[in-house]
Amino acid sequence: MSKNLIKEKEYAAKEASKLLKDNQIVGLGTGSTAYYAIIEIGKLVSQGLNIRAIPTSEESMELAKKLGIPLIDINTVDHIDITFDGADEFTSDLQLIKGGGGALLREKIIASLTMDNIIIADSSKKVALLGKFTLPIEVIPMAYQYVLARLQSLGGKGTIRKKDDVTFITDEGNYIIDTDFGLIENPSGLALELNQIVGLVEHGLFLNLAKKVIMGNGETVVTFD
Ligand code: 5RP
Repeated sequence: MSKNLIKEKEYAAKEASKLLKDNQIVGLGTGSTAYYAIIEIGKLVSQGLNIRAIPTSEESMELAKKLGIPLIDINTVDHIDITFDGADEFTSDLQLIKGGGGALLREKIIASLTMDNIIIADSSKKVALLGKFTLPIEVIPMAYQYVLARLQSLGGKGTIRKKDDVTFITDEGNYIIDTDFGLIENPSGLALELNQIVGLVEHGLFLNLAKKVIMGNGETVVTFD
């Protein structure tokens, strides 16, 4: 990845962290951009900010613990005040594809409980139409052939995700099918179809879940809301 995009992630994360307030319940995203947000949150906590956080993955949980960010169990809260997470693609009307890091299930649960879901991204993530990034779809392992066939009947060419030649397993013990639907003209229609497939646990179309996207752009940031 070019150095510039890494800087853009950092700028977006720094800008987003200014939205944090004392006593909030905070969702911690997953991925290389959310990483910078968690680092910023760790700094603020070490300076006295009082928050409780809920991570979207084991990886983000480990990082938060290392930084001394207090964590709470999601089942003890009825809402999350603010979440900082990345995206694989976003449109100017705040529709997203997520799941490139394999954490989409916990990410979507946490986004659904969140009042202010803040997406942070570098400028390569902005698209006119979703779908250049293959759509990550989480499935239970026992049903993957069935789900692959159903995706094909919807026009999606799916591939089981592998990491270092081994099938990738999510934090919830499932597989990811990365699915090429081409450019997605009607994301909400596709989401409705996907939601009906038995054995498909969750998909990476995050529709109407983001409050704003803060995008690094060179040495500045641009906000979409
Ligand atoms: C993880 C995600 C990430 O937010 C998404 O993949 C973006 O990651 P990065 O910030 O590393 O580009 O959805 O499941």
